[in-house]
Amino acid sequence: MEDNRLKKIEENALREIKTAKTGEELEALRIKYMGRKGLFTEFLRSMKDVPQKEKAVTGAKANQLKTKLTELLESKFKTLGKKGGAVTSSSIDVTMPGAKGMRLGHKHPITKTIEKINEIFLGLGFRIVEGPEIETEYYNFEALNIPLEHPSRDVFDTFYIEGSTLLRSQTSTVQIRIMEKEEPPLQVLAPGRVYRPDAVDASHSFMFHQVEGFMVDKNIRFSDLKGTLSLFARQMFGEEAKVRFRPHFFPFTEPSAEVDVSCIMCSGKGCRVCSYKGWLEILGAGMINPKVFEAIGYNPEKWTGYAFGMGVERIAMLKYGINDIRLFFENDVRFLEQF
Ligand code: DAH
Repeated sequence: MEDNRLKKIEENALREIKTAKTGEELEALRIKYMGRKGLFTEFLRSMKDVPQKEKAVTGAKANQLKTKLTELLESKFKTLGKKGGAVTSSSIDVTMPGAKGMRLGHKHPITKTIEKINEIFLGLGFRIVEGPEIETEYYNFEALNIPLEHPSRDVFDTFYIEGSTLLRSQTSTVQIRIMEKEEPPLQVLAPGRVYRPDAVDASHSFMFHQVEGFMVDKNIRFSDLKGTLSLFARQMFGEEAKVRFRPHFFPFTEPSAEVDVSCIMCSGKGCRVCSYKGWLEILGAGMINPKVFEAIGYNPEKWTGYAFGMGVERIAMLKYGINDIRLFFENDVRFLEQF
């Protein structure tokens, strides 16, 4: 008689569990059969009244059914999912937005500025190259016509690593690295980090970014340099932007100039940002010194070229109206979010 009751429970439970369509239905069936007051649980409880001689057989059958039902429920829960229970692949809506929403990052203003500079020069036929940040004295100084006694070689002015290796203090090093490997014509732009042991303040940082550019070919003239940099200034700061060249000295260019752009805050009228001068310095430039060509084995009678180097932070500060270089490196999202 007990056997029959067990059979009925088995038949019904198996059929119902197999046809369950949702996790909720399945959970209801689990409770119906296996819960504290479930049909199967009740059956087990009633085993105490089963006559002694039947107990062993019926007990074994009941145990088998328990395993069978437990396993069936488990595997079915895996496919249907279980409300409030284990998370399974089918119970997750992967398209649902996260509880806090997704915060998308974006590019750092320095990265954006470098990309804008690159884009302008790519449009003029320049190719973009990166050089090493750890350099030898030869590339950082000697090959650029900076003699041993020059103050910029002082250990206090440069981060030496060991012997004659150091963190480069300028991206002009890339001129040498390219020219010693390749023949003109060359039109190269080299963005990257440079290092100087400057005390950090609103306009100085021990690490900052430069973009070096140079062109070497036959008959390159100062007017090519002027035309290129005027166009750069207009594309970077707007059609109204003008440039002016002031004579200056750099060992690796002759003649050399410092280049100013008309103040983008006051359009050259004079304001606090430009110290009422109407102009802001943005870069150094010049015609490549024949001594540089000789050092790498180019014939200075055949080739001429220009070079320029600009500070990226300075350009970004002017473009975005930022008054403290430290803001770029502090990683305060309240600052970075604005760009
Ligand atoms: N390397 C110079 C500096 O770090 C910048 C510079 C000036 C680069 C004149 C040039 C140049 O190519 O012609 O201050």
